[in-house]
Amino acid sequence: MSILVTGGAGFIGSHTCVELLNAGYQVVVVDNLYNASEKAVERVKEITGKDLTFYKADIRDKEAMNAIFAKEEIESVIHFAGLKAVGESVAKPLEYYENNIGGTITLCDVMRNHGVKNIIFSSSATVYGDPAFIPITEECPKGICTNPYGWTKWMLEQILTDLHTADPEWNVVLLRYFNPIGAHKSGKIGEDPKGIPNNLMPYITQVAIGKLECLGVFGNDYDTPDGTGVRDYIHVVDLAVGHVRAVEKLKEKAGVSVYNLGTGKGYSVLDMVKAFSKACGKEIPYQIKPRRAGDIATCYCDATKAKNELHWKAERGLEEMCEDSWRWQSQNPNGYDD
Ligand code: NAD
Ligand code: UD1
Repeated sequence: MSILVTGGAGFIGSHTCVELLNAGYQVVVVDNLYNASEKAVERVKEITGKDLTFYKADIRDKEAMNAIFAKEEIESVIHFAGLKAVGESVAKPLEYYENNIGGTITLCDVMRNHGVKNIIFSSSATVYGDPAFIPITEECPKGICTNPYGWTKWMLEQILTDLHTADPEWNVVLLRYFNPIGAHKSGKIGEDPKGIPNNLMPYITQVAIGKLECLGVFGNDYDTPDGTGVRDYIHVVDLAVGHVRAVEKLKEKAGVSVYNLGTGKGYSVLDMVKAFSKACGKEIPYQIKPRRAGDIATCYCDATKAKNELHWKAERGLEEMCEDSWRWQSQNPNGYDD
């Protein structure tokens, strides 16, 4: 039996494939390569010395997905595939709803038709909106999202929950990620954003490599210790290991469960600049800019539930996250492009 990983060529997906293969699982990847390179899949094989099956296919393509489920013996699905650029989602809401929500509905329909009713879904801390309290536990109510990307996560959590209500044979694990950064120790796989990065860490690494001149710090007048935004950065390998634990959780047939995956520690933008400068041995020039629309001051989690129920906890600290991000960026200045 195999684990199907949708979006398995992407940033978090490729790291999860490594951890699944290392844990002895058979892996089938489906990715349309819209935001990824097949090289990532090759490098997963190099890192692990193990094989996996790759299909270049779109989760919205029912025929292709049916053929994959007919051919492979799939036990559970880890569903990463989706569009994730917040700003772009504001400009292209229909494309985001169609790909993320339409794609997930097609995927679940095909799963149901093949009797596969175990799914782990990539959700996000963004579903808490401006969180009602900090640190954020899973008891914290879902909030108002500020963009269509966030709403796709919010709604997909509801859709998957409704699926379980209609048919209790479904087992659903909703994983709310905080801010994944870092890369595999080998420096062979990592985050490879197209165009100018929206997120902090890839922006910093591209300043360090000399592709971008100066980091814009979005606001220094928040109610935080140094005035800049505070986030819960988590090493992508820790996040990947969390998915292996969630696969094990599915075997308990627990219905719908939701977990925060973060470290429980908050760091400011300036903390990140400092930690990264130390890791790469260079100054990171920055300039204070106005606040970015939709940003909140502080976001970090309480990850106790994942510790108690998934037997998982983030092990890697900020220094290691920065060193590993830098190793990936410096060994692959153009990402997966030649
Ligand atoms: P990513 O873009 O690197 O990976 C997503 C992958 O899905 C890409 O390889 C892309 O080619 C593929 N894809 C997109 N639409 C597809 C479709 N219709 N059919 C097949 N493949 C498709 O992003 P990531 O950072 O690895 O994120 C993985 C998941 O985690 C996403 O759902 C994202 O929204 C979610 N998430 C990410 C973060 C983050 O900060 N990176 C935070 C919270 C949640
Ligand atoms: C963002 C998204 C969130 C998504 C997550 C992962 C927004 C409003 N939120 O989270 O929905 O789930 O990415 O994709 O876009 N910063 C700078 N300069 C930069 C970039 C960021 O100062 O060039 C600051 C931000 O203001 C924030 C922190 O760095 O305080 C982290 O930003 P980012 O990496 O974009 O993540 P989030 O905003 O937490």
